[in-house]
Amino acid sequence: MKAILLAGGKGTRLRPLTVHTPKPIVPILGRPFLYYQIDLLRQVPEIDEVILSLNYQPRRIEEIFGEGEGLGLRLRYVVEPVPLGTGGAVRYAGDSLTDSVVVFNGDVLTQVDLGAVLRLHRERKAKATIVLTPVENPRAYGLVETDADGNVSRFLEKPGDSEITCNTINAGIYVLEPETFERIPKDTAWSIERSFFPSLIERGETFVAFVHDGYWIDIGTPAKYLQVHRDIMDGRFIAPPFDTIGAGAAFVSPEAKIDPGVDLQRPCFIDEGVVIKAGARVLPYSVIGRQTHVEESAVIDGSIIWPNGRIGTEAVVRGALLGRNCHIGRNAAIETPVVLGDKTVITDYSRL
Ligand code: GDD
Ligand code: MG
Repeated sequence: MKAILLAGGKGTRLRPLTVHTPKPIVPILGRPFLYYQIDLLRQVPEIDEVILSLNYQPRRIEEIFGEGEGLGLRLRYVVEPVPLGTGGAVRYAGDSLTDSVVVFNGDVLTQVDLGAVLRLHRERKAKATIVLTPVENPRAYGLVETDADGNVSRFLEKPGDSEITCNTINAGIYVLEPETFERIPKDTAWSIERSFFPSLIERGETFVAFVHDGYWIDIGTPAKYLQVHRDIMDGRFIAPPFDTIGAGAAFVSPEAKIDPGVDLQRPCFIDEGVVIKAGARVLPYSVIGRQTHVEESAVIDGSIIWPNGRIGTEAVVRGALLGRNCHIGRNAAIETPVVLGDKTVITDYSRL
């Protein structure tokens, strides 16, 4: 069985972090995001190949994952000549498929029971099965209404305030029958959410919902990207290294160099090669990437710093996201919701 991972979006809401790092490989605790999705797909032994549907910076992704050596499943890359939208991408990547296929948005992290989703799809002999999840505010998602038998009765992408009728949204995970792909026009941008799903409902085809009540997040905005780190550190989503060191613990790589007299508060994640000088404070929910140097008396608080950063003496970085190779001058103060792109240099004493 094959899975298609839709990972061709530009990640605009995570800019500038995604200018040089496509969203599927933004690091979560030092690990490219796609690894977490592959972990989930591996739960279903039937899935032996993952087709990565890409168009934005595909080489960067291929460089990391290759053909999937060591992952326990094969990876294939399908690169669209132009962005075809979520529907066009499924058609382009899945044109030669004949069996049921699992389709996944490339930016969702969840512990959904994929095996159970597949069982429901088969029991109901569905043309399409969609995973739904309840959220507080469905505005930023696809709102999905169901009937008493668990069939999808309405799909409304990005509803307006007055159109919100329920709290279940499209979790971005589907099982589809390839025979339905024929109705997706070839080689033109087409949306699975705005066109394909509504067309299934109009034609009265068996379109079934699987409601997932457990952990689910779309990492595609700075706030959610910060949140997912907190969720792992707090044990709401189980992932390394907090699965073994325990929720709320401090992870400090044995390859990090922390001077005596550093105030290190948990939970936090300090990666290899990090150097933290005396008098510095690392407050809860901080993630400090490989080879980053934190100088004397600097304060890092609830921030995520990608590799090779330098945080100057007495600088304060609070609730911020810093890309790779950022240099923060001495006594600079950076506060939420600042997001700095790779190689940003902030002059001494600046305030952001
Ligand atoms: N290959 C390819 N080509 N992939 C694409 C394209 C494209 O043209 N456009 C978007 N994608 C990928 C993105 O990389 C992402 O992984 C996924 O498709 C969804 O796109 P987003 O841009 O992240 O959409 P969204 O988050 O606003 O909404 C979608 O996800 C929500 C759940 O997170 C919709 O599916 C909503 O209905 C859903 O609720
Ligand atoms: Mg998204």
